[in-house]
Amino acid sequence: MIILAIDTATDETSAALTKDTSVLSNIVWSQASLHSKWGGVFPSLAKREHEKRIGWVVEKALKRAFSQSPYTNHNSLFTNIDAIAVTAGPGLAIALEVGINYAKKLAREYEKPLIAVNHIEGHVLSPLTVPFSTQSKNTPEISFPSIAVVASGGTTQLILVRNFGDYEIIANTQDDALGEALDKAARMLGLGYPGGAVLEKIAKEGDSKAYALPLPMQGRESEGKFSYSGLKTAMMRLVNQEKPLTKTKIQNLAASFQDMAFEHFVRVSRRVIQNSHSPINHLLIGGGVGANVSFRKKLQQMAKELGIKSVLSPYSKKLYTDNAAMIGIAAYFKFKEEGVSTTNFDKIDRTPRARITEKFTWEKD
Ligand code: KG4
Repeated sequence: MIILAIDTATDETSAALTKDTSVLSNIVWSQASLHSKWGGVFPSLAKREHEKRIGWVVEKALKRAFSQSPYTNHNSLFTNIDAIAVTAGPGLAIALEVGINYAKKLAREYEKPLIAVNHIEGHVLSPLTVPFSTQSKNTPEISFPSIAVVASGGTTQLILVRNFGDYEIIANTQDDALGEALDKAARMLGLGYPGGAVLEKIAKEGDSKAYALPLPMQGRESEGKFSYSGLKTAMMRLVNQEKPLTKTKIQNLAASFQDMAFEHFVRVSRRVIQNSHSPINHLLIGGGVGANVSFRKKLQQMAKELGIKSVLSPYSKKLYTDNAAMIGIAAYFKFKEEGVSTTNFDKIDRTPRARITEKFTWEKD
């Protein structure tokens, strides 16, 4: 099944072509540098940039897939596309709207079904993507129940995956998201925005035991809550105490903060998984923070201790952060499992607070 997928949930404008679980093309236009002076995503700027770039990313995704795939003898890949998929939420309302309107326009023009996808479900299923060249041999096998870790700039959740489309959030953040906390720490250290990836690089050179930061929710892990605001405040105090900052201090502060933030995530996750009392088959890792090597190592160690069969994560860095390929794959499974496909597009609407545990309103009976 060939799907043209579009994602404009926050500050990445993305379009991809997927064939079942394989990725034919995945174009991401990141607006991050434009938002950096605000220290976060500025909604009206995001909307304007999505409008400016959406046509370009779709065109580029089509051309790239066109040059790689066996469908090169067609004038336009649109004739081979079975469906169009678009992120309906969660995300920024005015950003989501750009992708939805564009997807509706294409679906009407080319008479294709339109599949609305939950952005978080895209992150959950992103480890199941495979590069087009190896599609037949390498598609990861998945069995249920499994657990998904989704850690990004706006989401920090542990999700029990009972089946495709059947999810339960078993741990959630009660304040900041993990990626947001890393971004804020990076900003305190003068490392720019978004800072997760830079913080990782700098932390590699530092000593994670150099500073004693408080471990959040200690002794309360079984409540299934992540919390980063106390850690962030402690970091702010520490950074101010340590001023003027030298290179070594920055490296040690970065390493200490990152280590404590990850330690907290793993401690809560370990306890919640233990308490779920069901044998978990796989641990799926998705979302921007998943690109962090020490985060994944800690999760791998935890999975081993808990007897989880395997840890699955996306095959490319580009598939951790926001991208449309994961939306194409989620749409494929949604179509396969539920047969959800609609030629009546009018009801599909932006759903900024969509939850992975609930159907979109227009899909409810
Ligand atoms: O999935 P994503 O693109 O979703 C959002 O836009 O929310 O994730 C972005 C987040 C940012 O907070 C960014 O700092 C973080 O993922 N991130 C990382 C790394 N790469 C991106 N955090 C830690 N280590 C990385 N290598």
